[in-house]
Amino acid sequence: MPEILDGVAIATAIKLEVAVEVRALAAQGIRPGLAAVLVGNVAASEIYVRSKVQTCAELGIYSDLITPSEDIATEAMLDLVAALNTRDDIDGILIQLPLPRQVDAKVLLDAVAPEKDVDGFHPVNAGRLQAGRPALAPCTPAGVIEILKRSGIPIAGQHAVVVGRSDIVGKPAAMLLLNNNATVTICHSKTRNLAELTRQADILVAAIGRPGFISPEMVKPGATLIDVGINRIITHDDFDRYFAGNAKREAAFLKRGSTIVGDIHPKAFELAGAYTPVPGGVGPLTIAMLMANTVRAAKMRRGL
Ligand SMILES: NC(=O)c1ccc[n+]([C@@H]2O[C@H](COP(=O)([O-])OP(=O)(O)OC[C@H]3O[C@@H](n4cnc5c(N)ncnc54)[C@H](OP(=O)(O)O)[C@@H]3O)[C@@H](O)[C@H]2O)c1
Repeated sequence: MPEILDGVAIATAIKLEVAVEVRALAAQGIRPGLAAVLVGNVAASEIYVRSKVQTCAELGIYSDLITPSEDIATEAMLDLVAALNTRDDIDGILIQLPLPRQVDAKVLLDAVAPEKDVDGFHPVNAGRLQAGRPALAPCTPAGVIEILKRSGIPIAGQHAVVVGRSDIVGKPAAMLLLNNNATVTICHSKTRNLAELTRQADILVAAIGRPGFISPEMVKPGATLIDVGINRIITHDDFDRYFAGNAKREAAFLKRGSTIVGDIHPKAFELAGAYTPVPGGVGPLTIAMLMANTVRAAKMRRGL
């Protein structure tokens, strides 16, 4: 039976460790602070940000939720970020994506002080990560590494194949795996003979954004499968394509009218040595690592 890598349990352990650090900092009169900037009314973003703010409260991290209106201009956002960069009670700045079309996201993310860039999106942090220097790494890929390490899955010397090369997931995941001495192959939409490459993976990371894209034929038996994908499915045909015969899941699907499938076909998990389920695998790590990054930023900024 493949081992299920329980992201909820690992995230809980990380959050407990963060809470201990927060208490230790409090004893020194320091309270890490996170500014969460949520523009407009994108329902999914609202849910994500509220859960980030709530987790801050649970762990003793100060948070400031800032909600500019949907029609804010890039210049006004830049002023907001400039103010947050100089605030001493703020250690981390989180700008929830996606931003409305009129806001230049790149310009804005580049304006965040790198030492407060708890999402790890600033080019300075990307460069530091690539150079193997201390850096605030993007939360989801950092979570992938935590899952592997805390589950005792060796990384050094393993062939890690990352499908997806986004700046947020694929590229930093590849860089973190490389920094941990994996032999890394990065694949993307222009990769030829993709299945030939994925079948070589000891660790296969899927960050594609296409439901069930990695089929059983693309997986080496016994491999560790890390599924970053989050895809909502709403039709019964799609449900049957991925979960036929799964009565418990079907009951939940019928009740809610939707379910989530990752980028790896659930049938492929049956071949794995270990895998992250969707939901409950990589997902919960993102917020845990955001909290860890905020505390790390608070310490780094004070030379601790
Ligand atoms: N908290 C979390 O768990 C979390 C966080 C972030 C993202 N996600 C999920 O992770 C997934 C990926 O997110 P992302 O932001 O990295 O997505 P993205 O920016 O859309 O990038 C997708 C990547 O997949 C590649 N790709 C697309 N079709 C492909 C194909 N047919 N063959 C090989 N590669 C292909 C693309 O290649 P090209 O570069 O050539 O276009 C691209 O590099 C999504 O499902 C997202 O919802 C989850």
